[in-house]
Amino acid sequence: MAFHPETIIEPFRVKVVEPLPILTRPKRTSLLAEAKNNLFSLRAEHVTIDLMTDSGTGAMSQDQWAAIMRGDESYAGGRSFFELESVVHELTGKRHVIPTHQGRAAERILFGALVGNNADFVIPANTHFDTTRANVEAVGAEAVDFVIPEAYETQSDHPFKGDVHIERLRAFLDENASRVPAVVVTVTNNSGGGQPVSLENLRNVRDLVDDYGVPLFLDCARFAENAHLIKRREPGQSDRTTEDIAKEMFRLADGAWMSAKKDGLVNIGGFLVLDDHELATRCRNALILTEGFPTYGGLAGRDLAALAVGLREVLDERYLDYRLASVAYLWDRLNALGVPLLGPPGGHAVYLDAKRFLPNVPANLLPGQAVSVALYQEAGIRSCEIGTVMFGKTRDDGTQEPAPLDLVRLAMPRRVYTQSHVDYIIEAVAYVFQNAAELGGYRIVDEPPALRHFTCGFQRASVSS
Ligand code: F0G
Repeated sequence: MAFHPETIIEPFRVKVVEPLPILTRPKRTSLLAEAKNNLFSLRAEHVTIDLMTDSGTGAMSQDQWAAIMRGDESYAGGRSFFELESVVHELTGKRHVIPTHQGRAAERILFGALVGNNADFVIPANTHFDTTRANVEAVGAEAVDFVIPEAYETQSDHPFKGDVHIERLRAFLDENASRVPAVVVTVTNNSGGGQPVSLENLRNVRDLVDDYGVPLFLDCARFAENAHLIKRREPGQSDRTTEDIAKEMFRLADGAWMSAKKDGLVNIGGFLVLDDHELATRCRNALILTEGFPTYGGLAGRDLAALAVGLREVLDERYLDYRLASVAYLWDRLNALGVPLLGPPGGHAVYLDAKRFLPNVPANLLPGQAVSVALYQEAGIRSCEIGTVMFGKTRDDGTQEPAPLDLVRLAMPRRVYTQSHVDYIIEAVAYVFQNAAELGGYRIVDEPPALRHFTCGFQRASVSS
């Protein structure tokens, strides 16, 4: 006999529990009114299942908590830094390891150092994450996306929708290489639905940047999920270890930065790695100015210690099998119920396609917001609109310039929710979908000048108005 189970179980058991708040619908309705229907304004203690982000929301392991106790809090040269440096060096192969308090700090430092005062510089990427774009723009450069067109087709089942459009990027570099201080590839491509980038595409990007002498950087917040999706989906890769694939990804690049709040399996942290000595010196000088000494970079020693453990744990293939299975489980069941989704499932989240979910609500009336608010009102689930609210604009005539896609992201925190929580999410989404005809739209009120989705208010609007 040989038992080959189909059930992929959580490869952990629970040692510490945190109670889940369960509120009544009338209570949630009044909280929504107080929050002006902006889910960022809710208190987390009023949320039953929080799928707003997978960033910094994961559960640490017993070994990480043990490492926290062993953290060395010395100002300079602490042991925890050298533990982290050695793990990151082995993983990425890069000489310089610069810790930062989170991903966007690394972005600010790197783009400041790469761009200097060259206002006509351009940074191409598959798709820039919003903080990446904002940090490129903050130093006066332009952020341009070169992702393949399938990234914008929610129903295409292309296995690597995060891939860079090589020919378009080549044409761009042909004309503009002297204005390009670096090319960025985001793995997985968060703003494009958490979709992976293939190894073949990364190798092609490497060949391309070599032709123009431009360095390549990875925005590697979800590198382990990307590497495991390569192992699962890319022809010729299934016999390799995920760790080996991840190492090749890093060796194809000249440098990388990481928001360790994702695949670092920690609640706070980040780093920047690179080989270029002169660039590393400029980055370290900027780091000292605002983050801290280069052996802690704005983190406590214990945070560095927990990250060193997390970066090893995340490449455990039993963990990654479970991780991808738990996202695919939610995706498969919602898909079987006819709920419109962006496909195929990516590494960290399921994205509802709000335009098809609410076909009667025009982009101008923010269908993604309507679905997000309904999921909270009905089931206490907090999701995140990624569409016209986040990326659109209010025109002078008060109408909305729509984003290309209106999505609602259900991001899965790592090692936090169990299968019954996911079953509850499935039931809730199905319920809201079945009653979608009753949902109206929303209009923005109190709009701030930038990054409006965090603080604006929303007023219900009937669809015929
Ligand atoms: N790059 C990517 C691909 C990200 O997803 C994020 C954050 C960052 C950079 C910035 O890192 O938050 O540590 O400063 N993404 C979070 C999210 C916020 O919800 O997807 P950070």
